[in-house]
Amino acid sequence: MNIDTLRNDFPLLQKTGDERLVYFDNAATALKPSHVIEAMNAYYLDYPANPGRGEYDLVYRADQAVQAARGKVAQFIHADVHEIVFTSGTTMGINLVADAFVRKHLKKGDEILITESEHAANVLPWYVLQERYGIVVKIIALDAQQRLTPALLKEAITPQSRFLAFSDVSNVLGTKSDTLTLTKIAHDHGLWVLLDAAQSAPHFPIDVHQSDVDFLVFSGHKLCGPTGIGVLYAKRTHLEAMDPYFMGGGMSLKYAKDFSIRLAPIPERFEAGTQPVAEIIGLGAAIDYLQHIGWDFIHQQEKILRQRALVGLKKIPFVKVYNPDAEAGIITFNLEGVFPQDAATHYNAHHIAIRSGQHCARNLTDYLQTDGTLRWSCYFYNTEEEVDLFLEATKKGQDFLDAFFR
Ligand SMILES: Cc1ncc(COP(=O)(O)O)c(C=O)c1O
Repeated sequence: MNIDTLRNDFPLLQKTGDERLVYFDNAATALKPSHVIEAMNAYYLDYPANPGRGEYDLVYRADQAVQAARGKVAQFIHADVHEIVFTSGTTMGINLVADAFVRKHLKKGDEILITESEHAANVLPWYVLQERYGIVVKIIALDAQQRLTPALLKEAITPQSRFLAFSDVSNVLGTKSDTLTLTKIAHDHGLWVLLDAAQSAPHFPIDVHQSDVDFLVFSGHKLCGPTGIGVLYAKRTHLEAMDPYFMGGGMSLKYAKDFSIRLAPIPERFEAGTQPVAEIIGLGAAIDYLQHIGWDFIHQQEKILRQRALVGLKKIPFVKVYNPDAEAGIITFNLEGVFPQDAATHYNAHHIAIRSGQHCARNLTDYLQTDGTLRWSCYFYNTEEEVDLFLEATKKGQDFLDAFFR
């Protein structure tokens, strides 16, 4: 795989001069290759029909494209096609499970376990269940190595614990969970497990059969796909046991004036209304693209880039790195004495995009002992030269500081 050739796939990476962008905010969203954009355009230009709604060629074609995308997603995570529900993203997937499964199966006093590093999407839906229905949310503190360990999980589980929801990769710490072990422990104690794979699906192979998680969610936009599309995987028996959250066209086989409803089979019963067809097709194209790149290249590239950035940052005296030992291509850091938002503006002036703030993981502020951080996150299309530009700009963070206080 040649990095220069590969970068030609990304229109945004072709910009030069003042328009040039060094993009290190991949944990927020990934750039989109032409392949994905063209697949979506082809739908709009050639067969912009409403799948499942009509008996003419365009509809058949749109139908086939959606089913093909569902098949690609299923294969991508080693699931069955009937276990793949299209959602608008990770956030919707977790909300759907919270409302349609957990609320139904848990009662007042039952416990949901999460960790202190979860993204708001994997915190707030559970808080609402606590507030409205008396289901108890327990937040497990991480160990000194920034991880939920098997021992910590075992310690947290009580006879009331029924559900565990945790992220495969933390969007702030970049740590990869020992998902197999944690899931096994949870199952041994009778808990259901939801895995937030928003940050892992773009970077690590996923196998729901091997991990045996009950639910898994991710977003298309973080793996080079479009926004507005995501995936909920749930074991077939769980989907069968869930009530649909949205009611409307396409999710029933029959209904009548006597108020009876016969639901469509899974997964369609969870996909009421016209679906984001172009986005579904774009997600399928993104999965094709990632498979063409290959995990080996993705891992190798991210490892090289992270290591280079980390070594460089450690040499700059006013930089504090919070997660030196993470597995994912994420570095969370601060320029001492500079508000992260101010620092991000400084990088922006150098045409470098990195994230600042709390990264939607507000329960981590005590653990990190800071109100905010900068987050550098890479993907396979970034280069070592871009890392060096980032490090050069970081060194000037000191000048920026001087100018600020002078
Ligand atoms: C770990 C994690 N979970 C959930 C989400 C929410 O994803 P989305 O906004 O695409 O629904 C994100 C997004 O940054 C994330 O990093």
